[in-house]
Amino acid sequence: MRRFERDVAIVTGAGSGLGRATALLLASEGGKVACLDVVSDAAEKTQREITEAGGTGQAVVVDVSDPASVAAAITTAVSTLGRPTIVVNVAGIGRFEHTVDVTFDDWSRILGVNLTGTFLVAQAALPHLLEGGGTIINIASNAGLMGQKYSAAYCASKGGVVNLTRALAIEYQDRGVRVNCVAPGGMDTPMVMSEDSGFQPPAGVDLDQFVQEFARVMSPFGNATPEEVATLIAYVASDDARYMSGSIVSIDGGITA
Ligand SMILES: NC(=O)c1ccc[n+]([C@@H]2O[C@H](COP(=O)([O-])OP(=O)(O)OC[C@H]3O[C@@H](n4cnc5c(N)ncnc54)[C@H](O)[C@@H]3O)[C@@H](O)[C@H]2O)c1
Repeated sequence: MRRFERDVAIVTGAGSGLGRATALLLASEGGKVACLDVVSDAAEKTQREITEAGGTGQAVVVDVSDPASVAAAITTAVSTLGRPTIVVNVAGIGRFEHTVDVTFDDWSRILGVNLTGTFLVAQAALPHLLEGGGTIINIASNAGLMGQKYSAAYCASKGGVVNLTRALAIEYQDRGVRVNCVAPGGMDTPMVMSEDSGFQPPAGVDLDQFVQEFARVMSPFGNATPEEVATLIAYVASDDARYMSGSIVSIDGGITA
């Protein structure tokens, strides 16, 4: 039997990168997958890929930083696919900026999507998970476990995701809900590779200086593929990980060792 045959999964950020890879993998092993993203075309593309491969997916548009949008998206996912048993909080944004240049809007947007968004989706999904058990996997980053230049808001948001995970794990560990966190290092996804990625050297920092400054977060293994990280997420979501809760699992080529 395929691992997720009896599961309904909600995956945020499912239109791109790690969210897409996770949605495709869970669906390929029998899960019915709600593909949540703020970009409707991207969510629909992932849904199409799932359907074309013989799986079941449903695109749902959401802005995870908006409580009303999250509530509506979870209601749509549940009414279309059924009670969720797996929730994967992947949606995330970031940019490199000198801290002195970070506007209140930049700070609020990054915290709003990465940390508040993770909280809102978990909160809206929890009543359903509590009805019969389930699991939440939050995506942090090496940047949630260590300092990184030009990344105050991103580091703060991902550090928040790490300890939000522990708080939820403790609160719900005797009620059939496991909560864990996967913390990737560099991954080859549009977040870091697209031309309009926010992860470009900030003003006044040339490429040589930037490469030197970021040497400590570059693994000799290079970057991970999103599929490699999705494989870990699928393990944590599966019944094989029954004994895991409150864990922060790094997959970062050794940079936080
Ligand atoms: N790429 C990396 O090197 C790296 C490293 C460590 C951690 N991460 C984390 O992994 C996760 C996935 O990143 P990725 O590299 O696949 O990025 P990505 O940019 O390829 O995908 C992120 C997805 O989130 C969606 N999204 C953004 N804001 C949203 C919102 N308000 N509501 C709903 N969806 C929204 C985007 O539309 C996009 O589809 C993020 O949480 C990121 O912080 C990435």
